[in-house]
Amino acid sequence: MSTPHHSNGLQLRSLVKSSGELELSLVSVATPEPGPNEVIVRIEAAPLNPSDLGLLFGPADLSTAQATGSGARPTILARIPEASLKGLAGRLDISMPVGNEGAGVVVQAGVSPAAQALLGKTVALLGGAMYSQYRCVSVEQCLLLPEGTTPADGASSFVNPLTALGMVATMRAEGHRALVHTAAASNLGQMLNRVCQKDQIPLVNIVRKPEQETLLREMGATHVCNTESTTFLADLTQALVATGATIAFDATGGGKLAGQILSAMEAAINQSAKEYSRYGSAVHKQVYIYGSLDPSPTEFVRNFGMTWGMGGWLLFPFLQKSGPAAVARLKERVAAELKTTFASHYAREVSLAEVLHLDTISVYAKRATGEKFLVNPNKGLL
Ligand SMILES: NC(=O)c1ccc[n+]([C@@H]2O[C@H](COP(=O)([O-])OP(=O)(O)OC[C@H]3O[C@@H](n4cnc5c(N)ncnc54)[C@H](OP(=O)(O)O)[C@@H]3O)[C@@H](O)[C@H]2O)c1
Repeated sequence: MSTPHHSNGLQLRSLVKSSGELELSLVSVATPEPGPNEVIVRIEAAPLNPSDLGLLFGPADLSTAQATGSGARPTILARIPEASLKGLAGRLDISMPVGNEGAGVVVQAGVSPAAQALLGKTVALLGGAMYSQYRCVSVEQCLLLPEGTTPADGASSFVNPLTALGMVATMRAEGHRALVHTAAASNLGQMLNRVCQKDQIPLVNIVRKPEQETLLREMGATHVCNTESTTFLADLTQALVATGATIAFDATGGGKLAGQILSAMEAAINQSAKEYSRYGSAVHKQVYIYGSLDPSPTEFVRNFGMTWGMGGWLLFPFLQKSGPAAVARLKERVAAELKTTFASHYAREVSLAEVLHLDTISVYAKRATGEKFLVNPNKGLL
């Protein structure tokens, strides 16, 4: 039997109506009885990552957002441009829970020894619906956090740490020796800097503001190029000559940046070319688009020969391809270096209701550097 204090809990939902309206609300959901190999986790920390914001808001026009309901149970309504509705057919009129990852305390456990061993322990979780007071998950979805780790320390144990490690693993598997990363002052970008410095991997950071250059240089980054600088392409080419980087991970996705990186890679390689080839260099140059921070179309001038690739990169297919043993090793590293290499910084901790306050949305929806929010679904409710 569930004990009364967690038999029900609030959950944040995102609903796109076929009428073209987004509705964000809090609903009360019953906490299920855990199966033999399942546990109930009281979620106390879950990051608001860009991918979560993508599901939460969809393509809604947030300038039309309006708040209704009470302070404790707010509802947000916003218009979705008609042209965007076609792409949302799969989620129309389905009330969806949000939140990829989080951490909390196991308050109830199934009968299996593995589940019982987690009772009272702090665990990190991956598995969706983390903006919920309680989640029922299998033991396999839990990462037992080291003694002395708080839920806030462990909230971002999966998505960004495993992506940073996945970029390095992809670089090695595809025969490259250095990396390029864009939107590089992001939470993930800062982790990647720490991973690359620790593992001695040359890294070229691309940012868009002088303060982001300063932030990364103060962290020890050697190569930082600013897209807004008049010397950006020359600086990037120079950094590519110095590092030999021929693979890039681009979080922006839209605009000219992915193509500019391939062009600069080709220019860097040609600086040491022995002879001219009308097909361009024979060195493979790869850009993986792994985010959509810039929703505009991807544009490029094909001036980088014939030996290149541009494609998408997602964490979950990477983990599937890597197999359970390799993934377990990556998770072990994350747990061991959670407060150092993989530490995350949050600007504010908010309750479920505060996620739905217009003034809060106006800050975290910007996805700005250093402005990541942490949701504590049990804040003020225990
Ligand atoms: N494919 C995957 O499996 C996967 C996994 C994890 C993360 N990701 C992606 O990784 C990226 C970083 O995530 P995070 O949690 O580290 O983000 P974050 O800490 O919230 O930081 C977002 C960063 O993006 C910058 N930014 C926003 N819009 C931009 C634009 N149009 N052009 C250039 N820079 C822009 C911001 O800089 P300003 O301050 O200048 O706005 C900020 O530095 C996101 O795109 C996320 O979706 C993808």
